[in-house]
Amino acid sequence: MTIEGLAPGNELDPVQQAFLENQAFQCGYCTPGMIMAAKALLNSNPHPTEDEVRDYLSGNICRCGTYKEVLAAVKDLAEKPLQAAEKDLSAWQSRNMKAAN
Ligand code: FES
Repeated sequence: MTIEGLAPGNELDPVQQAFLENQAFQCGYCTPGMIMAAKALLNSNPHPTEDEVRDYLSGNICRCGTYKEVLAAVKDLAEKPLQAAEKDLSAWQSRNMKAAN
């Protein structure tokens, strides 16, 4: 999966939306990498601690520095009530299964 397939349709994926709302913009290389890494983290651990987020995203290195905004975006998603997070994940999985078929 690449960033292009994350939100097949007109709606942004919740991770993309959170990055947008938190102005977590980086360059065209770093933003997709951060979003896909955040998505993978949240798929496996919907409510990571800040330390877990920092550790998971530590391989995405750039010198331009919107790390604070990226952390805020992931924190927003991690703090969503479990039911909302599961609904988002379920909708995302459903959309992607349809796109794959
Ligand atoms: S934002 Fe991509 S190298 Fe810094």
